[in-house]
Amino acid sequence: MRTLLKLLEDGEFHSGEVLGAALGISRAAVWKKLQQAQAELGVEIHKVRGRGYRLARPVCLLDAESIAAALSELGWSVRVYDTLGSTNAEAMRLIDAESSLPLLILSEQQTAGRGRRGRKWISPFGENIYFSLALRIDGGMRQLEGLSLLVGLAVIKTLKEVGIASAGLKWPNDILVNHQKLAGILLELTGDPADVCYVVIGVGINVNMLTSIEVDQSWTAMCLETGFAFDRNLVVSALALNLDGYMHAHKIHGFAAFQEEWERSHLWQGAEVTLLAGHAEIQGIVLGVDPTGALRLEVGGQEKVFSGGELSLRLRNPLKDALQ
Ligand code: BTN
Repeated sequence: MRTLLKLLEDGEFHSGEVLGAALGISRAAVWKKLQQAQAELGVEIHKVRGRGYRLARPVCLLDAESIAAALSELGWSVRVYDTLGSTNAEAMRLIDAESSLPLLILSEQQTAGRGRRGRKWISPFGENIYFSLALRIDGGMRQLEGLSLLVGLAVIKTLKEVGIASAGLKWPNDILVNHQKLAGILLELTGDPADVCYVVIGVGINVNMLTSIEVDQSWTAMCLETGFAFDRNLVVSALALNLDGYMHAHKIHGFAAFQEEWERSHLWQGAEVTLLAGHAEIQGIVLGVDPTGALRLEVGGQEKVFSGGELSLRLRNPLKDALQ
């Protein structure tokens, strides 16, 4: 399937005969494969008599070889899939299967992409980045303190490098542009919390997605911010290199060394917020983060600290903040 889609990548018409010859299959088999791509991957294909087939929109597919070459100095294994339920789930499965780590899993599509707090992450074929890095952590979960916030810094650095200067963070690790979500981060853990454990760092970035009726929150994409499409291979490679750099420094210095940098990128510093913690709602003013990455809020004139994966922030006065 990938080879056939690669031949159609340019968005131009290609005849069934030429495509069949390139793949060593009949014209009828080409049409069957393309119908399969439409049904299983949701790829829209135009078929015009006398001209052949073309993709409704040109795509730039992920290229495992070029990504592996760009990341050769990191010593990571890289696997690229056409479709997966979730790259995080696949990374977890491969940790259990004792695969060699670090291991980067990428997919063109996710059919059951996982978001924070049990939400779905909408993951159409060939448009965005679905990135999961599986790592072994020696010395227990304390090594992971602030890691999810640090991943946010690596995403922000990558976005700034490719020209999306207005991207910022919302605690704990949403990436927003103009109050709209551009990327999300989901860390999943397994193993012995006190000894050898494993973490999967999942990152979803909306890259070339122009429309979606499925995303149930206000969102944007890199292409919508710049007006042009991105080569996802370059974005993946830049993200991996930036993430590796941050992780090395984090291992030595911990999150405390990044506290100030993180607060500089925090779009909601000083904002009046409501913190949702299960059924409880806490009103406060955002002071920043502490050396472990926990949220510092001024509540009733006192500083209080909050941490945990199920917490979420809302602006108390969205209009006022939008106008700032
Ligand atoms: C969020 O809700 O903000 C977190 C979204 C994380 C989505 C990414 S896409 C790659 C990886 N695989 C998943 O199933 N989820 C993460």
